[in-house]
Amino acid sequence: MSDTVKVHYLRDYQAPLFELDKVYLEFDLQPQATRVTNTMQIRALSPGEPLVLNGEKLQLLDVRVNGESVLAQCDVTDEHLTVKTDLSEFELSIDTEIAPESNTSLEGLYRSSGNYCTQCEAEGFRKITYFLDRPDVMTLYTTKIIAPKADCKVLLSNGNLIESGELDAGRHYAVWEDPFRKPCYLFALVAGNLECIEDQYRTADGRDVTLRIYVEPRNIDKCEHAMSSLKKSMQWDEQRFGLVYDLDIYMIVAVDDFNMGAMENKGLNVFNSKFVLAKPETATDVDYEGIEAVIAHEYFHNWTGNRVTCRDWFQLTLKEGLTVFRDQEFTADMLSPAVKRIEDVKRLRNHQFPEDAGPMAHPIQPQSYIEMNNFYTMTVYEKGAEVVRLYHTLLGEAGFQQGMKLYFERHDGDAVTVEDFRNAMADANGIDLTQMHNWYVQSGTPTLQIAAEYDAANQTYRLHCRQNLPAQEEPFKPLLLPIKTALLAANGKAMPLKVQNAAAQTLSPKTQQAGAGEASQEVLLVMREAEQTFVFEGIAEEPTPSFLRGFSAPVNLQFAYSDAQLSLLSRADDDAFARWEAFQTLAMNEIKGNISRFEAQQPLELSAAMINAFAGVLLDRQADRGLVALTLPMPDLTYIGEQYRQINVEAVYAVQRWLKRELAQRFEEPLLALYEQLRAESAGDYRYEKTAIATRKLKNVALGYLLLLEQHAALAEAQFNAAQNMTDVLAALESLSHTGHEARLRCLERFYMQWRYDPLVLDKWFAIQAGSHHLHALEHVKALVEHADFHYENPNRVRSVLGVFGRLNLLGFHRADGAGYAFLAEQVIKLDKLNPQVAARMVAPFTHWKRYDAARQQYMQQALQKIMAVKGLSKDVFEIVSKSLKS
Ligand code: TRP
Ligand code: ZN
Repeated sequence: MSDTVKVHYLRDYQAPLFELDKVYLEFDLQPQATRVTNTMQIRALSPGEPLVLNGEKLQLLDVRVNGESVLAQCDVTDEHLTVKTDLSEFELSIDTEIAPESNTSLEGLYRSSGNYCTQCEAEGFRKITYFLDRPDVMTLYTTKIIAPKADCKVLLSNGNLIESGELDAGRHYAVWEDPFRKPCYLFALVAGNLECIEDQYRTADGRDVTLRIYVEPRNIDKCEHAMSSLKKSMQWDEQRFGLVYDLDIYMIVAVDDFNMGAMENKGLNVFNSKFVLAKPETATDVDYEGIEAVIAHEYFHNWTGNRVTCRDWFQLTLKEGLTVFRDQEFTADMLSPAVKRIEDVKRLRNHQFPEDAGPMAHPIQPQSYIEMNNFYTMTVYEKGAEVVRLYHTLLGEAGFQQGMKLYFERHDGDAVTVEDFRNAMADANGIDLTQMHNWYVQSGTPTLQIAAEYDAANQTYRLHCRQNLPAQEEPFKPLLLPIKTALLAANGKAMPLKVQNAAAQTLSPKTQQAGAGEASQEVLLVMREAEQTFVFEGIAEEPTPSFLRGFSAPVNLQFAYSDAQLSLLSRADDDAFARWEAFQTLAMNEIKGNISRFEAQQPLELSAAMINAFAGVLLDRQADRGLVALTLPMPDLTYIGEQYRQINVEAVYAVQRWLKRELAQRFEEPLLALYEQLRAESAGDYRYEKTAIATRKLKNVALGYLLLLEQHAALAEAQFNAAQNMTDVLAALESLSHTGHEARLRCLERFYMQWRYDPLVLDKWFAIQAGSHHLHALEHVKALVEHADFHYENPNRVRSVLGVFGRLNLLGFHRADGAGYAFLAEQVIKLDKLNPQVAARMVAPFTHWKRYDAARQQYMQQALQKIMAVKGLSKDVFEIVSKSLKS
């Protein structure tokens, strides 16, 4: 592999040399020999240049220019077809053959449960036919699909159905025409024996849109939630963004074998069935929420991604960061904004921060790549969404919407760049946002250090702020960094704020609305320099500062809070995120102190501050249940590990578990009372609704604590046996899975017998065992990949076992003898031959090898080297392994 590797650089971008006026595709579907005829109307922009088309794993049959075969004059390599012609306008026809049945990469045209489907993003269209496979080549598509009727009752592609009919030999056909120009990554074809549910949506401008969700017949009873999510999404995008759907039909297809979550193909989304199928008995609250969010995400792409698309793949965050921001706002509006914000920050810290600190770190606009599929990352998506949120924080909702309006006015129908987005935001608001560029080109999580100085005599409060990117080689370019701030008095009340030189240093839409001169209780300090001081005037007592409210920027804050200040914030701050954050910091301090004691072999100590804070949250009957359920659990193992340059695996696990057990013991009675109360309240039919969700979640948090005490295992088994919904069944099974209690095996066995024929539910059974902190976790996981229901070809199943094991099983994966590493390496090698995209994802846990002790580092490097030595390694795995070893 290493000798043929090509690195793609943003700086090498060149505009296309050819334009496509339209394309006509004809598919004659057969499992092992699908015939594709691709007829393009081409215009040369600088005539005389050879036409170089992308194509991979295609059997080339013929090439015609204006009807005449030129096959003999073409150059064909593994990745390209070069056609030479002096014509400036011509019709190019290409016949190829492909074998969807043998395509296990799940990219291009492939089969899932016997049905045909496609996945073209990022560069998969080239596995279907020779093409200018780049997003800035947009054209109009007409697609004819021919297939035997018995195997493929349904024939679908993008746009509108314009013709269909019968053919000889039991075959039939359909012709679809998409009236919108699009890049080929948005092309889709689906064919098979699917059934659908249908509904209607009337748009704000009074057009009726047909909505269809296609699934395998056995799943037809699990589509309702997805359909209602789609209608909510369409309505929300009209109301909040003024964006209306543009075709007469919107189709979603669910398939079991899919590399990612879902794909926004124009008018024909293809989904991982995990993000479509749900009924209370089979799907958890988390699944329901995921479905609502992913349906929304793909729907929102119709404007942010499809109508306005990316010039090249380095601009991926243009569509993904923006669309994730939009789906986050949607979920916030559907459920609880505070809960959603905290969940998103947790996800960012647990998964994106580590990525940004490792050898695969890249800016939200990567500057180079070997395999584009490797850059569909937490950084491009989630940090990208945080950067879009910065515009929103700086401009306010109204200013942001003005920016969006201008963005669509300028760029509808175009393939554009992140600069185009930024310019629209800046120009619509008449402000200079050039400094935002620095967020797009620098990687790593910035640190924000703040030192405070209170001057009682002058009643001033000074904040000395310093921003930096720790592991940067190049000179740091300061970021435009909005710090949403309040100052709390000792009584917990927010003080009225007056900032010196406010015009230059703050941006406070709220203050502006309130009128000049009027003091507000929250200001947006806008930091532009690497070091900057902000001074508050008229501060009558030394305050407790509340920084980065709502997590106003994706940075690591360093401020020397006292326990007393954290307690005050966690009790009294009126920003829900800030309250949660203060509690997390308290808990983290408690954990860090005890990790030091653990390492010094001293007895562990539970502080009064921690006990009081926990009691305050647990016993507060007025508090929002959704927030309590997020606050009571202790920081995740991964997030604790993130606090250390070198992670002490045993100490992190032992201290977190000790702290949780200690709290369970001390609060056994109130936890039990809470559990019983919520169990009673949550009895009855399942409802997907904010309060019901919060009640189940808090109940199961209480159960999790109680299960740390041996005497309560029966509670979990009872809940497991009685529960009517998957949320409660799974929570019980999960809490049991970490114990050595005999009920563990009983429940696992029952679960398997009940759900063995439902793949999405069976994934949960695999995942629970792969993530278990059981002493023999590795042995269990080794048995799982030998299980008759384990299939390397199915990404969901692979992620349930190998993904969960590497990411979540701290003790099993990081076993001191290195056996966890050796196992995963061997699995990655096996998987790479079938599905490189998924194999590359499984390598991620190895990339952090530098964060472990010397012995583990060595074992992890050995595992990476073993993968590296494999002949014929994919680009996908090669890129991640080689970059990890180089670091
Ligand atoms: N564009 C898709 C989304 O975010 C992501 C996606 C789906 C994808 N399938 C893929 C990315 C395959 C790379 C490869 O909604
Ligand atoms: Zn997306």
